[in-house]
Order: sequence, then C-alpha cells, then structure tokens
Amino acid sequence: MGARLIIVSNRVSVPDSPRTPLAGGMAVAVKAALKNRNGMWFGWSGKVSDPPPSEPQVVDVNKITYVLIDLSTNDIQEYYNGLANSVLWPILHYRVDLQEYSRADASGYMRVNRMFADRLSALLREDDVIWVHDYHLMLLGRELRSRGHRNTIGFYLHTPCAPPDILQTLPHHREILGGLTYYNLVGFQTENDRDNFAHYLVSQGAAQNRSGYEFEGQKVRLGAFPVSIETKAYMRLARNAGRSAFVALVRESLGGSRLVLGVDRLDYSKGIPDRVKAFERLLENHPEWRGKATLIQVTPKSRSDIKQYGDIEAEVTGLIGKVNGRFGDAAWTPIRYVNRSYSRTVLAGLYRSAHVAMVTPLRDGMNLVAKEYLAAQDPDDPGVLVLSQFAGAAKELDHALIVNPHETDAVAAALKRALEMPLDERRERHAPMLAHLLEYDIKTWAEDYLSTLVEGAPGRRLLEGIRALFGVSSLNGPLAFR
Ligand code: F6P
Repeated sequence: MGARLIIVSNRVSVPDSPRTPLAGGMAVAVKAALKNRNGMWFGWSGKVSDPPPSEPQVVDVNKITYVLIDLSTNDIQEYYNGLANSVLWPILHYRVDLQEYSRADASGYMRVNRMFADRLSALLREDDVIWVHDYHLMLLGRELRSRGHRNTIGFYLHTPCAPPDILQTLPHHREILGGLTYYNLVGFQTENDRDNFAHYLVSQGAAQNRSGYEFEGQKVRLGAFPVSIETKAYMRLARNAGRSAFVALVRESLGGSRLVLGVDRLDYSKGIPDRVKAFERLLENHPEWRGKATLIQVTPKSRSDIKQYGDIEAEVTGLIGKVNGRFGDAAWTPIRYVNRSYSRTVLAGLYRSAHVAMVTPLRDGMNLVAKEYLAAQDPDDPGVLVLSQFAGAAKELDHALIVNPHETDAVAAALKRALEMPLDERRERHAPMLAHLLEYDIKTWAEDYLSTLVEGAPGRRLLEGIRALFGVSSLNGPLAFR
C-alpha cells in the first residue's frame, strides 16, 4: 500500500466542521501540506468530554482521514491551558516573566502526550511517515519510540525558539526539550530559531557531528524551513473576495478614509497595545491624518481561560477606548476593534482593500498574515506592509517597512510613510516579495521538509514511496533557506 503521511497536531482543522478552530498559522499550513497527499491528520477534536470516549472519531473528507480524540476537563486545564500555553508558549516567545509552572501541569502534559501515543500507536503502519506539529507534543516522538515504533518521525515548531538562557528557565527542560531529540528531524521557522535550539543542545552536552547532534544516545537533525502560504490560490481568492458585498460595505463605511488593517489572535505576543499606541502617536503628531485613516483591528479571542490572556484583553480594550475617546468624533471612529473571526474569504477581501497592513508582533514564529496580505494585493496598485523585525517573516520580506514594535515614534513614522507612499515605490517593494512568495509557497515548504526528513533516514523503498505518493519532485535538490 506504500507510505502514508500522518500529521499529528493538537488542533485539527476539519473542513466544514462547526468546531473548526481559529485559523492559526499551523492549521493553515498543515491543511495545505496535506492537499493531494495520501494522508491522515490526528489530533484533538476541539471537544471536551468527561470521560472522553475510548474510540476516536474518524472523518473522511477529500481523501484525507481525520482521526479525532476528545480531551477531558483536566487535560485542558493541565496540558493545553497549563504547560503548553502558560509555560512553553511564553518561554518560546521570550516572555519568561509570564510563565506559571506547576508540577501538576507538567505531569498533565506528559499524560496527554502518552495518551496521544497510545491512540496513534494502534493506527500506525511500519512505513508511515509521521510529522508532528508544535510545542504541545514535544514528547510524542519519545513515547512512540518507547512503544517500539521505528518509523521516520519529524517534528516542526511553528513558534519561535528562544536562546538557551531563556529555554533553561523551563523547569525540567532537559526532559521536555530533550524529548525533541527522539525525532529524526526538527524543523524551525528561521535559522535563528534553529541555531538557538542547537546552542541549547550543545549547552546541555550534545555532540555535534556531520549530520546533526547526538544527545544522550539520540541522534537528531535540525533545519530551518520557513512556512508559507498557497500563494497562487490566495491571490485568486483575494481578487474575487475584493468584489464581495460585505467587503464593499466595509469600504463604503470608511467614507474615503484610508484603511489600516491589523489581524491577530488576541495574544500578548502580537504587540497589539504597542500598535495602538503607534496609531495614537500618528494622530497626535500628524493631525492631517485625523479622520483620514481608520485602523480596523480584527482580533478573535484566544485561550480565554488563561489569566495573561484576560489581562491583555483588558489592556487592549482600555487603550482603544482611550484613543477613540481622545481623537474620535461623531462622524469618525479612529479604531474599529472586532473580537470575532472572519471566513478566509472575507479576510482576503479585507486584505485586498487595506492600504496598509500592520503586522507588528513583539515575537512571532513566522506570521502568515504578512504573507497573505502581500498575496492579496493588486500588483498594479498594492498596499504597504509594516512588519516587525521580530516576526520570522521579516527574514524573507525585507522590502516591507521593517520596524521595531517597541519604538512607538518609529512605528508611527513608518505608518505615515506607508500611508503616503507613491505608487512607484509601492510597486517596487511589492513585486519582489510577491515573486518570492510565488517561488517559496506552501508546497515548496512541505516538499522541502519532507524530503529532508526522509533523506538518509529510511531505506530506498520508503524514499521511492514518498516520491510517488507525496508528489515530492526532488528528494536531493537544493534546499531553500537551510
Ligand atoms: O501557530 C501557533 C499555534 O499555537 C498553533 O499551534 C495553533 O493552532 C494556533 O497557534 C492557535 O492557537 P490555539 O490552538 O491555542 O487556539
């Protein structure tokens, strides 16, 4: 039957499911990577049940099998809200100050990783290639190995990876982060993230050899594979969506004022307060833009049971209220703040209509909003991307207006420059970035990662299987951004 690609992640995005989660970067990328491949996507159903049913739910859509398991209230508390999102997430995003570690959460994290391994174990064939995604499942590789699985197993981290001094603030870091060495290949968004993890391993006594690193008897390879988007399809989607009735209504409601757009999950890593302050500074220093530019900030709520997320929500709401009270008038609201998610189509239409996109996270693995915004533009009359130097995307999208989100004056100045940028310069900046995204799209990302994963590790038979089944065109070709 040949090799299958088994994707494992905490979130699973089942097409047309009423429980389809917020489209984070991971879900968008994995969905595109599975397209046209013989594959299975295994993970959490998004449902909480006590106790969870012993059998997973299996759904087949467009040749992809989705295998979904429920989590218990305790699992959500200790694993998802606990170690994954109150400890690993802040540490990986350099926010050591926000981590809240507890032994109960650490043991819940291990329990859920073991449970994923038990459930998955029963479904695996010898020649399946397994690709695990994100920080929720760092220990899954080790658990599968301890159940005797010798498959090729890869891991990809969608978040940034902080330097060793920060990683070492994680209690029991050797056990949790060292778990990544049970994978054949660990992929990162940027070379900086990869190097940070390599330095961490070496700081813990790992030996570097020609092909990778050896740590406590485990051999692992590391690589940088910047995640991307389905560029061509997104361009098409945005062209059509720009003509949709809802998007026309939004444009009309702006009454000639320029649209500045921000789209982020409500998360402290996204730098939303800093962005609001920069927009306020623009209005403060450049009164000519009052009534002439409107910031629409689309911000679906996220991980709301975690205190730090409640805090950021209160901060953002307070700041936006203050700016609107200070500069708004009966005929114009400076910032429209929307706590809801829109369909992919509506978002694409909003991107197409926006004169400026502000993608200014304090720290971000990649940030696919930046890439989608560029793909959505009319190449003859494109908008301008203002991009944080701390988003992984800044390494590739260097024709954007790159800013330090901590420097309010500089972000306000970049915003003014973006709003006033002449057409020629907008085109000159947009064209090379679009060309790059057309070349390094999501297909290239998946092929690049998968070909590196299977390279050298398994026998020739599996290589052939991958080539045939996953449409990998060049298993030994040059690898972009390694
Ligand atoms: O992209 C990082 C990530 O944590 C994904 O793993 C996740 O799907 C997305 O952000 C959204 O977060 P959550 O699954 O916690 O809603």
